[in-house]
Amino acid sequence: MPLPKAELHLHIEGTLEPDLAFELAARNGVTLPYADTDALREAYLFADLQSFLDLYYALMAVLRTERDFEDLASAYLARAAAQGVRHAEIFFDPQAHIARGVPMETVVEGLWRALGPSAENHGVSTRLIMCFLRDESAESALATLDAAKPFLDRITAVGLDSAEVGHPPAKFREVYEAAAALGLRRVAHAGEEGPPAYITEALDVLGVERIDHGLRCMEDPALVERLVRERVPLTVCPLSNVRLRAVANLADHPLAAMLDAGLMCTVNSDDPAYFGGYAGDNLDAVGLALGLGEGRLRELARNSFLASFLEDDEGLRARYLAEVEAYEFG
Ligand code: ADE
Ligand code: ZN
Repeated sequence: MPLPKAELHLHIEGTLEPDLAFELAARNGVTLPYADTDALREAYLFADLQSFLDLYYALMAVLRTERDFEDLASAYLARAAAQGVRHAEIFFDPQAHIARGVPMETVVEGLWRALGPSAENHGVSTRLIMCFLRDESAESALATLDAAKPFLDRITAVGLDSAEVGHPPAKFREVYEAAAALGLRRVAHAGEEGPPAYITEALDVLGVERIDHGLRCMEDPALVERLVRERVPLTVCPLSNVRLRAVANLADHPLAAMLDAGLMCTVNSDDPAYFGGYAGDNLDAVGLALGLGEGRLRELARNSFLASFLEDDEGLRARYLAEVEAYEFG
C-alpha cells in the first residue's frame, strides 16, 4: 500500500497520455503530426519550460467535448488513486481551450463529470484551481475570471502558470484582487525558471497562500527565512524539474536542502504524462535519489494535507492526517 498523500500541483492537461491523445484524436477527427504513440513519446525531450509548453498546448487540440475532459480526468484519478493520492487539487488552463473555441462550460462541466463522483469512484477528494496564462494579457485573465463566474461553486482557487520569465506576478494584481473578492483562494507558479523576486512578488502583490515550484528561493537566504517563518507551502515537482532542466539530475535536486532549511515542501507531479511519473513515482524517485528516510517521507505526506485547501472539511483533513501517521513503511 502506498503512502497516503495529497497532490497539489497537477495540470490536468499534463496528464494526457499518448494512448488517450490518439484515441481522442480519432474520436474528434483531429490529425496529430505524429505517426503513432512511440513517435509522440520521442518528442518528449525538452530543453526548457517553453519547449515543453509548445507540445503541451499543441496536443490540447484533441480535447473538444465534455466527454473528452471527463475521460482525461477519470484516467488521471484512477492512476493517482493507485499511487496513494487521497486528495487532488487540480489545475486547468481555460484560456488555452477558449482560444480554440472550446467554451469554459465544456471544460468545467466535463472535468466535473469525473471530479464530482471521484470520492465515491476512486476514493480521491478533489478541488479545482483555475489558472491564468501569464504570457497572455492581464485583460484576458480578467475576461477568464468573468467567464468562470457561473461555475464558482466548482472552483476553489486561482493559479498562474505558463512561460514564467518576463511575466512577473504583479502583471496580475487586479485579477487576483478580484478573485479574492469572489472568495477564491490564491496560488501561483513562481521561482521555477523565474527569479526569487517573483516569489516575493507573488506573496506580497498577489497574496498567494502557496507557491508552485519555488525552487529558486534557495538563491536568497532572506527569502528562505521568510518562507520558513511564514510556513508558506512550496509545491515541488522533482521529475518535472529534471525534464525541464531546472536541475541537472535528481541527485542534485535541492529538495533535501529545502527540507533541512525548514521549508514546508510537498512533492507533486506537475505534468505526469510528459515527465515520467505520477505523485507516487515522484516521491519514490526523489526519495531514492536523495536518500530521504521514513521521517522525511512522512513529513512530505503530512505537509501535503496541511497545505491543501481542506478548510471546508477539516474532518476529512484530520482523517487523512491520521492515515499518514498510522502508515507503516513496508
Ligand atoms: N503549465 C503546465 N505545466 C507547467 C509548468 N511546469 N510551469 C508553468 N506552466 C505550466
Ligand atoms: Zn506546474
